[in-house]
Amino acid sequence: MALAVAIPFAASCSAEEPQTEQQQPFEPSGKTKTIIVYFSAEGHTKAVAEAIREETGSDIFRIEEADEYAANPYDDSDRIQNEAYNDLRPEAKTYLPEKQIAAYDTIFVGTPIWWHQPAMVVCTFLEHYDLSDKVIIPFVTFGARTYLNETMQKLYKSTPNSEHIPAQLPEDVDPDNIRQPQNDDDGIDVPTTRDVREWLERIGYGKGDNSGISSIVYDTRNDIAVYSLSGTRLNAIPENGIYVMNGRKYYSR
Ligand SMILES: Cc1cc2nc3c(=O)[nH]c(=O)nc-3n(C[C@H](O)[C@H](O)[C@H](O)COP(=O)(O)O)c2cc1C
Repeated sequence: MALAVAIPFAASCSAEEPQTEQQQPFEPSGKTKTIIVYFSAEGHTKAVAEAIREETGSDIFRIEEADEYAANPYDDSDRIQNEAYNDLRPEAKTYLPEKQIAAYDTIFVGTPIWWHQPAMVVCTFLEHYDLSDKVIIPFVTFGARTYLNETMQKLYKSTPNSEHIPAQLPEDVDPDNIRQPQNDDDGIDVPTTRDVREWLERIGYGKGDNSGISSIVYDTRNDIAVYSLSGTRLNAIPENGIYVMNGRKYYSR
């Protein structure tokens, strides 16, 4: 079958990537709790990832496949289709140490749509970690919007215990069918290099996160546990001010 969706539609930018580029060793800046991890063969997803980095000051890591794709990924279309349609998990060339991933609380995850799915190595990478206390924010580049939901659904399935932005996707009309469009993509908001700042605002990134609290642990011993921002257990909800109850921040006045 010809790959009808891929070539005629220009993606979000026109960067071309030299395929011989060496992976740089990853250096955490120590200044941010957000990391962008992305895969990109032709440079479009990379360009969006870089734009997000510029806006957010996040750290950034490029996921690469262990068994390299052809310099022109369309030459590997059959392999890529096989990986997508059979839900395979190609190995990544490099994984970040668990300890480094643990240092982040928010992970932007970028991928091209490849045969109606994420580049499957992105799923391999995500499933390598316990991301249960992370917020995952996926972004995709593509030729056509037809398989946005199929792709996002797979990224959410690869991070089953994480929080996601957006918290919910449109209903997946036919979860077992990734080969035909389901027309269930409306409402999925994706950034381009030109509107990353507006996209971040639309999805509410960074909002309400100025309390100085970097990590909140749910208190399973009590149904209702109220804490001050400094972590002191309170006997009741304060009449004024910000407090934390069962892992969420509240403000009463
Ligand atoms: C093998 C292959 C399959 C693709 N399949 C799809 C697809 O199913 N749907 C789509 O919208 N775009 C598809 N595309 C287009 C890419 O998603 C698009 O060009 C993307 O921006 C590439 O990202 P990159 O430059 O970061 O690699 C495909 C591209 C390739 C090479």
